[in-house]
Amino acid sequence: MKKYLVIGNPIDHSLSPKLHNYWFEENNIDALYEKKQVEEIDLEKIISDIRNGKIEGINVTVPFKKSVIPFLDKTEIPEKIQSVNTIYREKKIKNSNKIVGTNTDILGFKNSLAQIKYNAKGKKIFILGAGGVTPSIIYALEEMKPSSIMLSNRTKEKAESLKNLFPQIEIVEWGHIKNFDMIINTTSLGLREKDKLPIDHNLIEPRKFFYDVIYNPKKTNFLFEAEKRGHQIENGKMMFVYQAQEAFRLFTIVPNIRSGILPSINKKVLKLLEND
Ligand code: ATR
Repeated sequence: MKKYLVIGNPIDHSLSPKLHNYWFEENNIDALYEKKQVEEIDLEKIISDIRNGKIEGINVTVPFKKSVIPFLDKTEIPEKIQSVNTIYREKKIKNSNKIVGTNTDILGFKNSLAQIKYNAKGKKIFILGAGGVTPSIIYALEEMKPSSIMLSNRTKEKAESLKNLFPQIEIVEWGHIKNFDMIINTTSLGLREKDKLPIDHNLIEPRKFFYDVIYNPKKTNFLFEAEKRGHQIENGKMMFVYQAQEAFRLFTIVPNIRSGILPSINKKVLKLLEND
């Protein structure tokens, strides 16, 4: 039986095992996907378990998306994005034991917008936060040619490091809101019920688009307040599902035979992710 893992710290909340195990079963693949809480010091050993065949593939979540990179043989990620969430043995070359890391968050975010037919072209985008997932989101957005990307983070230095990577972003003081078409919460504020982002809704014009990367809880305070005022809202559930779908495809590539299985996303799959 093939073994897969999602690693992170904390990891309890991860819904990846549910999703991937469902897809393995649906596709009659004899595999087991588990979650494992690890420390930084464990990363090298766990990744070497892919080389020796004990583990077939790994997904990586907070806070290790960057720290796994030195232990990989190669990465297939855009230079600016020092963030890996999917690790597996190289598939392009038969019997290769090279370990490759890639990023499926970028595609996950893009697909989540495509699915609801939101076109960011020419739009003013306002991003809150400068954490692990933020560069992937900026990268995806830049490809969509928005008219501007503004970014605000409590710790200004982190926003400034992102500006070094993406010079076209404009930094806005934390707590200030500029005119936007789409606002994206990439901070962890909202995970707890009492969390509140510093947004004065009275200053925001109607009919904007509020996107939260958080999907558990389903409706953060940020989305709840926006919906109450008639704005369009979207949580991070579909981004999560699409990044997992692409990871599954990569995991199931068979060299020279198939380019991976793109597993289904339907009502049943989405239901798996509820009530958790
Ligand atoms: P990491 O940076 O380790 O990847 P993350 O959970 O991906 O962590 O990102 C945390 C994000 O949420 C950061 O933008 C963080 O802001 P700081 O850079 O100032 O720490 C933001 N964040 C977390 N708690 C916050 C709070 N109480 N108020 C404002 N921003 C907060």
